[in-house]
Amino acid sequence: MQQFPFFYQALNTSTDVLFCEDLDISEIANQFGTPLFIYSKQRLLNNINAFKNAAHNTGHPWKISYALKANSNIELLRIISAQNVGASVVSGGELQAALKTGFPAEQITFDGPGKTDSEIDLALRAKIKAIVVESSQELEVVRQQAISLGIVARVYIRINPHVDAKTHPYISTGLLENKFGIDIDQVFDLVKAYQSMSLDVIGLHTHIGSQITELAPFVEAAESIKHLIIKLQQEAFVNIKYLDLGGGRGIQYHNIITHPNIRFENDKEDANMPSHEEFLNSITNVFNGMDIELTVEPGRAIIADTCILVSKVLYTKSNTKRTFVIVDAAMNDLIRPSLYGAYHQIVPLTITANQEIQLASVVGPICETGDFLALDRDLPTMNRDDMLAVMCAGAYGFSLSSNYNLRPKAAEVLVDGSSVKNIRQRQIIEDIL
Ligand code: LLP
Repeated sequence: MQQFPFFYQALNTSTDVLFCEDLDISEIANQFGTPLFIYSKQRLLNNINAFKNAAHNTGHPWKISYALKANSNIELLRIISAQNVGASVVSGGELQAALKTGFPAEQITFDGPGKTDSEIDLALRAKIKAIVVESSQELEVVRQQAISLGIVARVYIRINPHVDAKTHPYISTGLLENKFGIDIDQVFDLVKAYQSMSLDVIGLHTHIGSQITELAPFVEAAESIKHLIIKLQQEAFVNIKYLDLGGGRGIQYHNIITHPNIRFENDKEDANMPSHEEFLNSITNVFNGMDIELTVEPGRAIIADTCILVSKVLYTKSNTKRTFVIVDAAMNDLIRPSLYGAYHQIVPLTITANQEIQLASVVGPICETGDFLALDRDLPTMNRDDMLAVMCAGAYGFSLSSNYNLRPKAAEVLVDGSSVKNIRQRQIIEDIL
C-alpha cells in the first residue's frame, strides 16, 4: 500500500503543514474557498485496486460493484467506471449517472425498496444486469412492465436474512423490523411461483448494513442464503447464478493522521479491522465448489478516506462548560456526526511547535444544537481564519449534503499529483433561489 495521500510536511523548523499528494492543502483552500471537499485521485485508484486484487486472490469469480449513493460526483464516477467495476444504483437519477459516466449497462444493478414505475421502465429499457426486487408487489409490477415491453426481465430477489450487523440502528438493514428485502422464509415460494413468468430470477441479493467492522454477520448471512440457493436448485429447479452481498464493509475513522508533536484526540482507537482478503475469503469459503458469481457493493470502503472536508474557523468562544470552535462547514455539508453521532477525526492544516492543546467542540453556523462536527475533542488552540480538515469525508459527505438554512453546497476538487481540478462548482445562492 502506498503512503496515505494526506500527510504533514515540514514547512520550516517549527511548522508542519498538511498536504494532499504533492500539494499544500492551505493553498488549495485559499484558491477554491471553504468549505471545500478535497479528493485524492491516487487514493481512489489504490482503494479500487486493493478490492480488485483481494477479489482476484480468492480464486473465485467475484465482481466489485461501486455503490453510487456514497458519492456520485460525475468526475469521480468516470474514474471509477474506467477501473472496470460495476455500479449499484438506487434511483433513476443514479442509474442515469452510471450510464452517463461509462458503466456498462450489463454491469449495473438497481436496488431499493420503493422504485417507481418510470424507474423500472428506465431500468428495463436500459437492459441492466438485474433489477433487485424487494417485495412481491414489486415483482408483479416488474413482470407486467416486462410483458408490455415484450422482454424477459432479469431480476435478483433481495433477501432480508434476519442478521444483526452490529452497527448503528439507522444503517442496519438485515433485521425483520427493517424495511428492506423479502423475509428469507418467504423467498422460496415466491421464486418458485414466479420463475419463467416473463421473469428470469437469475440472482439473490442481500445488504445487512453499513460500517460493519466484523466478519461474522456477513458469514452468517451468506450461510443462510447458501441453504436457500441449494433448496431452490434441488426442489424448484431454479438455477441461481449470481449472489450479491451488498455493501457495508467498514473503514477506520480514528487516527487516520498522526503527528509526533501533538495528540489530536481523546477518543478511542478503532477495533482491528479484518483485511479485504480476510473479508472476501471468509465469504468465498461458504460457497466453495459452487458455480456462482459473487458480488460486493462497497461505497464507503472505496471513497470515504479519499477525501477531506476543509473548513475555516470563523470564531472561537468559551464559557465555563465548553470551548466552541465555530467553523464555516456545518451539518448541511457533513451530516454524519449529527445524524449518527459518527466520529470523524479533525486536524489542523498547520501545526506549530509547542502548540497548546485544548478540549474544544467544532460546530457549524446552523441554528441547531445538533449542528456539530465534533464534541469535546483535544485540539490545538484554534484562532479566527485557521483551517481544519475533517478526515474521511468522501462517503455520505457531499451526497448527503443539503441547502438547509439556505446554505449553498460546497465545492469539490480533485488532486492528482501536483495538479488540482475543480470537479464541482461551489453553489451560489442564485442556483437555489
Ligand atoms: N448496497 C446497498 C443495497 C446499500 O443500501 C448500501 C448502503 C451499499 C451497497 C453501500 O454500503 P457501504 O459499503 O457504503 O457501507 N449514510 C450512512 C450509510 C448508509 C448506507 C446505505 N446503504 C452513513 O453515512 O454512514
